[in-house]
Amino acid sequence: MTISPTPTRDHDTVRAVQWQGDRLRLLDQRLLPGEERWIDCRDAAAVTQAIRDLVVRGAPAIGIAAAWGVVLAAQQGQSLDDVLVMLRAARPTAVNLMWALDRMKARIAAGADAAALEREAQAIQDEDLAANRHMGELGAALIAPGSGVLTHCNTGSLATAGYGTALGVIRAGVAAGRIHRVYAGETRPWQQGARLTMYELVRDGIPAQLIADSAAAHLMKSGAVQWVIVGADRIAANGDTANKIGTYQLAIAAKYHGVKFMVVAPSSTVDMATATGEEIEIELRDPAELLATAGRRTVVDGAQAWNPVFDVAPAELITAIVTERGVIERPDAIAMQAMFGS
Ligand code: MRU
Repeated sequence: MTISPTPTRDHDTVRAVQWQGDRLRLLDQRLLPGEERWIDCRDAAAVTQAIRDLVVRGAPAIGIAAAWGVVLAAQQGQSLDDVLVMLRAARPTAVNLMWALDRMKARIAAGADAAALEREAQAIQDEDLAANRHMGELGAALIAPGSGVLTHCNTGSLATAGYGTALGVIRAGVAAGRIHRVYAGETRPWQQGARLTMYELVRDGIPAQLIADSAAAHLMKSGAVQWVIVGADRIAANGDTANKIGTYQLAIAAKYHGVKFMVVAPSSTVDMATATGEEIEIELRDPAELLATAGRRTVVDGAQAWNPVFDVAPAELITAIVTERGVIERPDAIAMQAMFGS
């Protein structure tokens, strides 16, 4: 399926994290695309639960949601130290969560009241959207006109304040007529690619084809894609990148087939305190997530499963890391240090 290079304004209509002044409204991403149900979180515990249960997911979006959780706690006079600890423990891999909470903590330490914390959370959300739009331009400029791309997981408006990281580059690349074919991997077991990325792309008028995760190497061999474009949950100081499980094998297959590999993430995903990907904690989720599909058991009773939900693509397999601060080609510790300091 080839996209006619008709520029549309910005292919971006979804906003899944909505602050309502006294509650946080979240589009329940577990139910998409079948049902668009909104959940109102009225306190920080509900926000923590929503992050843990994947009501809200995607590295930037969980950081933003957590910041709003701190605002709710401040409005309700809760112990902010306890709330920061609770929110921080919601999920381990995406550093945007810790980054957003550290930013809120610094404002609390400086004496911010609930209104000031509300302004800080809004700034975190607004800055993320601006970063995504800028990264979209930077990333799209790397792609030769007429290219095909493959993406993994969901990195779009659902996963961020809007527009998306890798999906933002795809939006910009399509609008600029550079990207002519889009493929999205299913992303087992939660199917973020099948359920969420396809939902965004169809809704925003970007033709795309879904592939089984296991079809990726075959697709690359066919010559239909020139770039794999993914987001990130944590980028270590040497450029090693943790992202949704399956990213590592895509990076290996891309290298083998001469397909370029782009990581797109805001600087809030960069963790210069973590030297290499070896040090990144990989979230292990309930094996039951693998033993059933859409709530229906698909594996024989008595079977066991191992369910790591992220992996690490080593920097040497990455062609370019795109952040709002600029593009790092052939990332390594020296290039990362030059752009992000220590
Ligand atoms: O488990 P998830 O759905 O939160 O994982 C999301 C991803 O791995 C995304 O690729 C990553 O967070 C980047 S989102 C802009």
